[in-house]
Amino acid sequence: MISRESIVFEQIVDDLAEKGFSVTDSFLDDREIEAILSVDEFKNKMLHFKKAGIGNSASLKINESVRGDYISWLDTKKAHLSISVYVNRLNALQVYLNKTLFLSLKDIELHLTSYPVGSYYRRHVDQFKQQDHRKISVILYLNRDWRSEQGGQLRVYSQSNEIDIFPVAGRLVCMRSDLIEHEVLPASRERLSVTGWMLDQLIDIK
Ligand code: OGA
Ligand code: MN
Repeated sequence: MISRESIVFEQIVDDLAEKGFSVTDSFLDDREIEAILSVDEFKNKMLHFKKAGIGNSASLKINESVRGDYISWLDTKKAHLSISVYVNRLNALQVYLNKTLFLSLKDIELHLTSYPVGSYYRRHVDQFKQQDHRKISVILYLNRDWRSEQGGQLRVYSQSNEIDIFPVAGRLVCMRSDLIEHEVLPASRERLSVTGWMLDQLIDIK
């Protein structure tokens, strides 16, 4: 029997091979998204979220003009149950990508992300220059009832096209971390997501 999961994964593989990025709606269902939104980190944002940096970090002023999001890193090995549901699905996707695209993805790093009203992330690629272990970027959006006039789209630059992807709850974006240029446009409402990368090495225990 062909499962829904394998159909979804196959589409992601095809898109990654063809265009370098993929958009999947309802990667998690409404209940699973609700459960993620109710984790402690989101309830107590002031306690857990820190201003995100760029690369191995430049001055705060430069940083501010590049990206305005706040993040909270997750321990994927002992995360809240609702996060584990997502991590398990990403692990299954990772196994599938390794098998079909001959990648050697070994681990996934994830953080919760909040873009306050008006904040953005300028055009960039995700892979660092000195440290190229990020191979596939994965972003899961958590915003219920997002309307296009609220902005906040992820703009992907693909060949000569610009593709705008709105951050609607349950939607997953996957993209080649080394290749795909993208940016986050400002929104008139707070924008929440889980952002992560599939790595070709195990995460260092800090
Ligand atoms: C990032 C990023 C895109 C998004 O965190 O590197 O580009 O849509 N995020 O949140
Ligand atoms: Mn990015």
